[in-house]
Amino acid sequence: MLRSPLLVSLSLAAASLAQQVGDYATEAHPRLPWQECTSGGCTTKSSGSVTLDANWRWVHVTGNYTNCYTGNAWNSTVCTSNSQCASRCALDGANYQETYGITTSGDALTLKFVTQGQNKNVGSRVYLMNSESKYQMFNLLNKEFTFDVDVSKLPCGLNGALYFVQMDEDGGLSKYPGNKAGAKYGTGYCDSQCPRDIKYINGEANVDGWTAHPSDVNAGAGRYGTCCGEMDIWEANSISTAYTPHPCKTENDGGQQRCTGQECNTPDRYGGLCDPDGCDFNPFRQGDRTYYGNGRTVDTTKKMTVVTQFITNNNSTTGTLVEIRRLYVQDGKVIPNSKTNFPGLLDPTDSITEKFCNDQKRAFGDHPSFQIQGGLSHMGRSLSKGHVLVLSIWADYAANMLWLDSTYPVDADPIKPGIARGTCPSNSGNPRTLEIDHPDAQVIFSNIKFGDIGSTYSGTPITLPQVPLPPGARGAV
Ligand SMILES: *[C@@H]1O[C@H](CO)[C@@H](O)[C@H](O)[C@H]1NC(C)=O
Ligand SMILES: *[C@@H]1O[C@H](CO)[C@@H](O)[C@H](O)[C@H]1NC(C)=O
Ligand SMILES: *[C@@H]1O[C@H](CO)[C@@H](O)[C@H](O)[C@H]1NC(C)=O
Ligand SMILES: *[C@@H]1O[C@H](CO)[C@@H](O)[C@H](O)[C@H]1NC(C)=O
Repeated sequence: MLRSPLLVSLSLAAASLAQQVGDYATEAHPRLPWQECTSGGCTTKSSGSVTLDANWRWVHVTGNYTNCYTGNAWNSTVCTSNSQCASRCALDGANYQETYGITTSGDALTLKFVTQGQNKNVGSRVYLMNSESKYQMFNLLNKEFTFDVDVSKLPCGLNGALYFVQMDEDGGLSKYPGNKAGAKYGTGYCDSQCPRDIKYINGEANVDGWTAHPSDVNAGAGRYGTCCGEMDIWEANSISTAYTPHPCKTENDGGQQRCTGQECNTPDRYGGLCDPDGCDFNPFRQGDRTYYGNGRTVDTTKKMTVVTQFITNNNSTTGTLVEIRRLYVQDGKVIPNSKTNFPGLLDPTDSITEKFCNDQKRAFGDHPSFQIQGGLSHMGRSLSKGHVLVLSIWADYAANMLWLDSTYPVDADPIKPGIARGTCPSNSGNPRTLEIDHPDAQVIFSNIKFGDIGSTYSGTPITLPQVPLPPGARGAV
């Protein structure tokens, strides 16, 4: 919904490429095997690996150790223009474990929140690859995506996220001559917030107009942003969870596109190329406060399996996206998604459909940016073009993650349907406080499976008990 990743400032005694490639540190992608499934069974994709996003990497003068970027500022001696700064600077290889707290073991990926190496790193974002130089592309239509996740070490304010964005398969290497690094070095990121904190976009630096973030020592924003369609499968911590499609009217039905000014959703949040809010399904926000959390129906103290199904109108990968279904498997039980629980306001439903999105926006009084950007069917066209899998851990300098796990907006009446999203206090989620109080926070994603509907999980189906109405639901009738 609102994403502003924490970036690391590196001044390592090693070298790399900015949009050139540096070679002081060898880039060795951690292996992350996953499985592709049909009704006949699953096969392991042992060539899977992950790469670190370029924004976290050391950027230095090609050929020596001088930083092109440090903390939240470009080196104005070295970088005098966007194109010159791309041709002069290089991104380097990453030391995944020691510098970034990123490790894999078997089919599991662990992302740590704070890593204190030679420099302090906060958060990370990685992409699944299918070769050394190409991202793994997924078409989710008429398919199901499944993974296990351990959120037990994610307190209020943190987000262990798994999502898809319509990035280019090669990270923009072939499209933009200034980009010599490509997917191997994690280039080409974009999402539905049209982030402007990205250091290199379209093979050029984002140094023109760059201003340091007022409170984040590792981030800033340049003149350009980078937009594309985004499907959030999982934005969650141990308190709350949401899944959310975000369509964009960029080229190619939601493909990566550089934006500037109002195109990047500012100052008018809803006047840009993308839908920044999405159509979210958060069980707590939808009125079931017993469903997800510590000791709840879906118990966040233990590992869980998360299944997401992309249903099309004609059960074909070329059909129109009409529904995004969710279910969980935990302790051998298949747990259906929670139902909306505001009688008279929202028809009880446990999945994302156009009707659910229309009803929710109306009932909660939210801006219909999702519908304006083309809704579920447009999200489906974006997915059909192929998306890249993103895994990340982040804290939120823009809104303290309160949109996910607390009352938001903080000054709204929490009794009003749609305002309460979780049990976190409205003063929680300050990123700097989290870095001090929860440096050991982490998320573990494992056992990734992709395939035909119904082929990636098994268990004994259960039915959910009737749950009490949330405060305010009566008034809503
Ligand atoms: C690195 O290279 C730049 C550009 O060639 C040069 O200005 C700078 O003095 C060099 N720095 C070092 C430490 O060699
Ligand atoms: C900026 O680049 C110059 C070389 O042109 C170098 O001497 C200086 O140390 C760099 N600044 C930082 C903060 O790395
Ligand atoms: C798609 O599959 C579902 C479940 O198997 C079935 O109920 C439905 O009728 C099918 N729809 C079409 C258009 O074939
Ligand atoms: C499914 O529907 C789409 C349009 O919604 C159509 O283009 C496609 O050919 C259909 N596929 C099959 C297998 O019926």
